[in-house]
Amino acid sequence: MSVGISASDLRHALPALGLREFWYPAGRSKEFGRRPVGRKLLGADIVFLREPGGVHALSDRCPHRGMPLSCGDRRFEGTITCPYHGWTFNMHGECVAALNEGPESPIPGKVRVRTYPVEERNGVVWVFMGDGPPKPLSDDVPEELLAGRSIIDLRVAVWKCGWLPAIENLVDSHDVIAHRTSAFYLFRKLPSWVKVGATETADGKGVDVRYEAMGPVHDIYPNIGRWPRRSWYRRLGMSSPNSGHQGLSQLRLPSLVRAAFPRMNYVRWTVPIDEKTVRVFLFASTNATGLAALRNRLSYWLWMSWSFMTQILNQDQRLFEGQDYFAPEQLSQTDVGIIKWRRVLAACAQREAQQRANG
Ligand code: FES
Ligand SMILES: [Fe+2]
Repeated sequence: MSVGISASDLRHALPALGLREFWYPAGRSKEFGRRPVGRKLLGADIVFLREPGGVHALSDRCPHRGMPLSCGDRRFEGTITCPYHGWTFNMHGECVAALNEGPESPIPGKVRVRTYPVEERNGVVWVFMGDGPPKPLSDDVPEELLAGRSIIDLRVAVWKCGWLPAIENLVDSHDVIAHRTSAFYLFRKLPSWVKVGATETADGKGVDVRYEAMGPVHDIYPNIGRWPRRSWYRRLGMSSPNSGHQGLSQLRLPSLVRAAFPRMNYVRWTVPIDEKTVRVFLFASTNATGLAALRNRLSYWLWMSWSFMTQILNQDQRLFEGQDYFAPEQLSQTDVGIIKWRRVLAACAQREAQQRANG
C-alpha cells in the first residue's frame, strides 16, 4: 500500500557521521582535567587537555606514526608528549620537540596536529568540529543551555545505534504506544492515536513538530475493535505535575531535539561517535528565576528525573537499539516530522559537501 509520502531514501543522503560545521557538546567540564582525555566525535579521535586558561582539543593521532596522544604524558608546561617516540606538541598543535631525535631535530616547527576550537559554558565543554572558522557558540547551542545557572541536570549516555534513529525517535508518534505503560503517562488521558504536523523553522535550521489532532482515550478500529482494551483509570485524567510536553518539539541542526515541558526544557543532543554508536547528552533546564526556578528544580528531582529521564529514556533506548534503521520503510502521516527533518538535513549535508569540494 502506498501512502503517498516518500522520502525514505533520503536516508542514504544523510551524513552517517554527522554534519561537521557545527558546535557539539564534548562532555561535562568536570570530566576534563590535566590528564589527557581521548574521545571520538563524528568519527574523529580527539584528545582534550585542560590548561590554566581552559580546555584545548587536538587530534588524537600523533603525526609521526599514529599513536594516540591521549596515552601520552604531560611532561612540560603547556604540552603533551607522545608516549611512543616523544614528539611533543603545544596547545596550538605545533610540534615543539622531537625527544627521540635530540635538540637539533628538524621536526619542531615543521609538523603539527589539527586543533579544534573549544568553549566551556555552564559546566559543559563544547567543541567546533568544522574545517572553517568557528561561528559563535550561540548560533548552534539553544539559549536555554547558555543562560547562567539554567541547567538543572545533564546526563550523558552511549547508545548502540546511529545518531539518526536516536534523534528521529523524539518526534514520531510512538509515545501513545511505546510509553503507554510508563509511570510518566500512567495517569494521563493518553490519546489512542495522533495526527502529526510539521513546519520548517523560519531560519531553515530545523523543523517544529506538533500533534495536530488526538484521538479519544479509547477508539474503535476496524478488524480489531476497541483500543486500548482496558485502561479505565485513564478516563480520570489525573495529571502528574510536569507530565506531557506542551505539544511542540523542535528538531534542530546539527543533531538535537528540544521540547518544552511545563516546568522544564528538555534537549536531547545526539553526537555521533561512529556510524553505529552515539553519545547522547540529555539536558534538563529552566528559564525561570528565583522561587519559580527553585520549584522547577524540586519538581525535576522529585518527578521528571526518574519518570522521564530514567524510565522513558530506557524504554526509548531499547526501541532504537533494536531498530534496523536502513531496512526498507513505509513512511506514513505520523512520520511527517521525520520526512521534513531529513530534507533539512540532506540540504545541509549537500551544502557542506559543496563547501569541501570548493576547498
Ligand atoms: S608515534 Fe608519536 S612520536 Fe612516534
Ligand atoms: Fe520515547
